[in-house]
Amino acid sequence: MAPLPADRPLELLVTGASGFVGGALVPALLAGGHRVRCLVREPDRLRAPWRDRVEVLQGRAEDRQAVWRAGDGCDAAFYLVHGMEGRLRGLVDRERRTAAAFAEGASAAGMRRIVYLGGIVDESRLAFVSDHLYARHQAGVELREGPVPVTELRAGIVLGAGSTSFDLLVAAATAPFALDTPWNRSRVQPIAVSDLLTVLGRVLTDPRAAGEVLEVGGPDTLSYASLVELVREELGRRPARRLRVPYLPPEATALGAAARAGTDPVLTLALLQSVEEDAVVRDPRGRRRYGELLGTPVRAAVRAALAAR
Ligand SMILES: NC(=O)c1ccc[n+]([C@@H]2O[C@H](COP(=O)([O-])OP(=O)(O)OC[C@H]3O[C@@H](n4cnc5c(N)ncnc54)[C@H](OP(=O)(O)O)[C@@H]3O)[C@@H](O)[C@H]2O)c1
Repeated sequence: MAPLPADRPLELLVTGASGFVGGALVPALLAGGHRVRCLVREPDRLRAPWRDRVEVLQGRAEDRQAVWRAGDGCDAAFYLVHGMEGRLRGLVDRERRTAAAFAEGASAAGMRRIVYLGGIVDESRLAFVSDHLYARHQAGVELREGPVPVTELRAGIVLGAGSTSFDLLVAAATAPFALDTPWNRSRVQPIAVSDLLTVLGRVLTDPRAAGEVLEVGGPDTLSYASLVELVREELGRRPARRLRVPYLPPEATALGAAARAGTDPVLTLALLQSVEEDAVVRDPRGRRRYGELLGTPVRAAVRAALAAR
């Protein structure tokens, strides 16, 4: 399959444009001169300032005909779907089916690349990770089963305004107490959304990235507790009083966190279950290749995200 040209505008399909990453990516692609089509489930809910500059097509990612119709003639697609559907039950199967159908639709439409953003996961711990993380992993596997070359980027937490994970961080940083839970000690290598967007754009036309799975993260690695403290500092708040809790059912923590952050309780539970694992880059290939694009320090990324809220 011929590589995508880097020197002319491309016709691109973005799935997940109403979400955090997709919603940030679309204007970046438009600024790069590309033409963008957005496949969305409910066009009326897409109220982005760039809406009039893209073609909006209605359809679900698990509907291969819809993907085919929407993507017909497109050069490539970004797969930025997070199909929670308000329940964790059946998540892995749903994500697998959706990704498999999308890969078939993209192939029928004649696309030459799918770029997928998944989560960082330690492959040796796949049997132990949360359904949410496993589902992200399996979506990548299913996409790669299709004939269209896939580039999968795997990231830990993305720091940017409008991200559920970032809203949860802010909620934790503004809570009266800092709960001393086991997952606070997990380690994470956050990535600034601006850096992520640059890399998503770069891999699209990089022929070396076809068929690759690349972990990406920013220059800093820290514990979740330190990340929450950093957000607290940037908000100008005093250090929180630590409250040691021997065990808290994740469901209870998630309900409390979702209520404080104004986030979806099911997605919040899924994310909290996932932070029990370290989300740090283990495979150096992503940094080796795109390291110069991944330089935003965690504090600067947090500051920018807070300013954009
Ligand atoms: N945010 C982070 O910190 C982070 C970190 C690492 C990796 N990622 C990955 O990046 C991707 C995007 O994440 P995000 O934070 O942008 O998620 P998000 O804000 O929850 O957005 C998810 C998007 O998926 C769409 N969607 C869900 N099911 C769909 C379906 N069946 N058909 C079509 N569209 C569907 C949603 O559309 P509706 O408006 O119709 O619901 C929404 O636009 C995910 O794969 C996620 O795992 C995110």
